[in-house]
Formats: sequence, C-alpha cells, structure tokens
Amino acid sequence: MAARWARHDMAEFLGGHRQRRLRRTGWMRDLVRENTLTSADFIWPLFVIEGHNERTQIRTMPGVERLSVDLCVEAARQAAAEGIPALALFPNTPDHLRTEDAEEAFNPDNLMCRALSAIKSAVPEIGLIADVALDEYSANGQDGLVADGEILNDETVEVMVKSALVQARAGADIIAPSDMMDGRVAAIRATLDTGGFEQTAIMSYTAKYASSFYGPFREAVGSGSRLKGDKRTYQLDFANTDEAMREVEQDLDEGADMVMVKPGLPYLDIVRRVRDEFNVPVFAYQVSGEYAMIRLAGAAGAIDEKAAMMESLMAFKRAGAKGVLTYFALEAARILNG
Ligand code: PBG
Repeated sequence: MAARWARHDMAEFLGGHRQRRLRRTGWMRDLVRENTLTSADFIWPLFVIEGHNERTQIRTMPGVERLSVDLCVEAARQAAAEGIPALALFPNTPDHLRTEDAEEAFNPDNLMCRALSAIKSAVPEIGLIADVALDEYSANGQDGLVADGEILNDETVEVMVKSALVQARAGADIIAPSDMMDGRVAAIRATLDTGGFEQTAIMSYTAKYASSFYGPFREAVGSGSRLKGDKRTYQLDFANTDEAMREVEQDLDEGADMVMVKPGLPYLDIVRRVRDEFNVPVFAYQVSGEYAMIRLAGAAGAIDEKAAMMESLMAFKRAGAKGVLTYFALEAARILNG
C-alpha cells in the first residue's frame, strides 16, 4: 500500500470491490437481503385473567393488557387474520387459588384450560402453546415445589406432568415447560404418549437463563411480589454457553420437538450456537424486560420505537431463530402485512 494516499490510487486499493454498490438503492437492498421477517415468524404471548370483557393494564408493559378468556378469543381471531401461527398463554391465577402445592396447575377447569378450550373451538386454525411451570399457581412464585428453602426437582415434575395432561386435553397443541427442572421433557413426553396425545408437541424452554429481564412478566402474572430469593438453582447462569448446549442435547434426547432460548436479544450468541450445533427448530423469547426497554425508550423519545421493534425482530432471524415469541407480534405483523 502506498505510504501516502492519493485519490487516484483508490481503484487499486479496492481491487475492483466497492461494497456500497449493493446498498445504493432500495430495490438493490431488497434484491440482496439475506433474511426476511413475516408474521409467520411470530408467537404472541397472552396473559389471561378471570372475568368477562375484562382487560387490565400492566404498569411495566405499556401496550400489553391482561385479557379475560372472551377477549383472548378476540385476540386470537386478530392474530390468525394477520397470519400469526401460534399463541403462548400465561394465566394470572386468582390469589386464593395459589397454594404451596400448586394444585391449581392440574385442575382441568383452571383458567389456562378454559382459555385453551375456548380459543381452540372458536379459532381452530391458530396453534396454542401452553406454558407449564408452577410459578403461575404457587404461593411462593417459584417454578417448583419448595421444601426447606430448596426447589424440589422430581416432586415438581410430578405436578408438571399432571398440568401438561390437563392442558393437552383442553386443546394445547404444544406443551412448553418453562421451569428448568431436570427430566421434565421425558416425563411430559411419556405422559402425553400414554394419555393418547402423541401428536402434542413439546417446545422446551431449554436454555432459560436466570435473568433480570423477566421482571415485568412477573408483574403480569402476579408472581413477582410473592417471589423470595431468585431462580438461580434451576435457571442457567448467564456467564455460561456450554451449559446451554448440554441442556439442548438432553432435551432433544428426552423428546423435545423444538427448543427455546430465553431471554432473546442479550442471548443471540446462544441462539446462533444452537442453530449451528443442532438440527432442530430453535425459537427465541423476546422477554418482557426487552419489550419494556424498547417501549419505554420510545416513549421517552430516545429511539424510534417502531423502527427499533422491527430491527430487534429481524436480529432474531439473523441469529438463526426459526421464530420469536414477542409481545410485539400483532403490531409487527400488521406493519409487515401493510
Ligand atoms: C415462568 C416464566 C417466566 C417467563 C415465562 N415463563 C418468568 C420466570 O421464569 O420467572 C418470562 C417471560 C417474560 O419475561 O416475558 N415459568
């Protein structure tokens, strides 16, 4: 390279390459774009509450509401009309039903099951993903049964399989254990198979990290104020990646059909690694805290909220995710569908 740069040397320096040629015009950028985003990439999480025609605000998630079952059915219709393939349901269980044993988790008439069957019969064309974990039913906000301050593994799995079974009966197409107990995928698979639900799929929350980005969700389902301590004895340490690969391997061995990485944006390296090392659909969850950051920064005028939303969603595709669970699903789908 010449010691002193002169403009006429440029052609030689570049060797004929000018990367900006492919960025000059909109049509050229359209032509060479590597990844695409469509409404079929989204899974829309809904928070379900008791009542009729009820909607309540979630302070930390502006734009997201908890909905009674009838309004969830309406939301499902809107999602289906936009080509969103599936919903993920989370119940906000009434306080008086939250117990140490979390028995409400396997009550066939619980809020979750009523929401599943109402949506399944009214909007059969949309897929229904049922979260299985005890924090939505337990008195202490932990995902497992607790004894002497310890989160019990095998005892928790026993409750979870019963919960998965009532959900499958109510119409869940995909069971999504979000608890991180060991062995839950195998136990749920075996229970579904013997119960006649061999076609019900399992999307495992496989690489779920102990994260502070779940804060707004815990307010949404009403578990946050109950939770003492943290979830670090079962959710992954955010300093690790190999550990996540071992979790994926084991969940696939146990019969998971799909795996999930959670949170999303801060963990795109994990999404990419799973995508590169395993031949299985990998999903990412853009969690409540990530949603809140984009919404609140938008409201503060710090960023262009809609543009940041679309950029963040494309980032999941770029990292190799097959799809993304996102509270932006309906809004983003409407933009994409014009
Ligand atoms: C509970 C569960 C959590 C989320 C999904 N399922 C919270 C937690 O593990 O504490 C978080 C989702 C979000 O933050 O959007 N088992």
